[in-house]
Amino acid sequence: MRLPDSGTDQPSEAELTAKLDPDLLPKHVAIIMDGNGRWAEARSLPRIAGHREGIKSVREAITICLELGIPALTIYAFSQENWNRPAPEINSLMGLLEHYLSTERNKLIEQGVRFRTIGRTESLPTSALQWVRAAEHETAHLDKLHLTVALSYGGRAEIVDAIRGIVREAYDRKMQADDIDESLVHQFLYTHDLPDPDLLIRTSGETRISNFLLWQLAYTELYFTPTLWPDFRRREMLLALIEFQGRERRFGRVFTSLSS
Ligand code: IPE
Ligand code: IPE
Ligand code: MG
Repeated sequence: MRLPDSGTDQPSEAELTAKLDPDLLPKHVAIIMDGNGRWAEARSLPRIAGHREGIKSVREAITICLELGIPALTIYAFSQENWNRPAPEINSLMGLLEHYLSTERNKLIEQGVRFRTIGRTESLPTSALQWVRAAEHETAHLDKLHLTVALSYGGRAEIVDAIRGIVREAYDRKMQADDIDESLVHQFLYTHDLPDPDLLIRTSGETRISNFLLWQLAYTELYFTPTLWPDFRRREMLLALIEFQGRERRFGRVFTSLSS
């Protein structure tokens, strides 16, 4: 049961939901889920407690996308650079990934969520990778929500992998340099069957991209919030979507009736 929002001056979640225009929702939301460590440190807890609490925000984001009919959600869970963290934190994160997939797999299937990963996942420990591959396999036929989890992911590595793929293809098919255009590059990205994100959310107050979806974010609306990821729940997501709906996406054009 959801309790009514406390306080009188803030709009309720129901009021925020009512503000959303169903025709103007993003088709693809990407999230840099940041601030788990600081959430834990503020409570004198080990960093892993923040990562654990962050999983609840992941569940909430999935639920909201399903409720609103947002068809694609891509979340940054572990970057290539995160391999430079202390081994105990990396091990805890991999354990958490396994735990999430083992306990949540059936729920994802019931909800109609297709789970996929992007990144150099071959670097993951064998048992985590087995859970990942099993979840990808078991949800491959589902399409209510395309959930893509970036794991061992780097945006520059993705572009390097795309270039490698194109060069291999060029040797095989004797492709010419002029045959390479933006749509061909797109076909060689990890996200080749997803539209570019309409909205990128980054939590925790950092205002950088941290090597996420470098090609795909070219015209994405960016939303930065100081809220730490474990605190980013329904209300915060609704605020991000409302802000997105107020943006004018010009894609380099001018929208005016006046001509100069
Ligand atoms: C994001 O939270 C999760 C991962 C990068 C795995 P952090 O662990 O980066 O938390 P902060 O930024 O240190 O607070
Ligand atoms: C970005 O967060 C990566 C993920 C959220 C998985 P980081 O905490 O690793 O990024 P930086 O180091 O602050 O740029
Ligand atoms: Mg961080």
